[in-house]
Amino acid sequence: MERSVVLVKPDGVQRGLIGEIIHRFERKGLKLIGIKMLSLSDAILDEWYAHHKDKPFFGGLKSYMKSYPVVAMLWEGKDSVATIRKMIGITKARDAEPGTIRGDFAMSQQYNLVHASESVEIAKKEEMLIFNKDEVFNWDKKDLQDVYLKDEIGDA
Ligand code: CMP
Repeated sequence: MERSVVLVKPDGVQRGLIGEIIHRFERKGLKLIGIKMLSLSDAILDEWYAHHKDKPFFGGLKSYMKSYPVVAMLWEGKDSVATIRKMIGITKARDAEPGTIRGDFAMSQQYNLVHASESVEIAKKEEMLIFNKDEVFNWDKKDLQDVYLKDEIGDA
């Protein structure tokens, strides 16, 4: 099954929204296979946001992401990358659809509470940047047969 990395960003941690964000993905039927709080380093952020390095907001983005710890999560599910991207909403939070995390709880295009992997390839890179092998848990989630059709579980 596909994996996606989610970060509760420093503003989400400050605003007490860690539980709310986890709760949404849990209720959706996604499987949490890794979670930890950490402070992001320059080295991680330079890799993480390499595609933004020439943008005028890059310096501010890095300072913001280092300002307080983040909570990193690894979620697993069928088509989880696209599903989670839909659930978080667009970058500019005040324009994000109601019902999405950003649409329900945020107003800014920088302080937008949450990050989610943009593609399966990027998710693999982000997983390697954050999680050690022994921090990822392949546990048996008993309700998967109530969340998916058998065929859907079978074909990754
Ligand atoms: P995200 O889309 O998850 O990843 C890039 C982040 O850069 C984005 O969330 C915001 O937190 C931030 N960002 C994007 N655009 C701007 C902007 N114009 N000004 C400041 N921060 C931005």
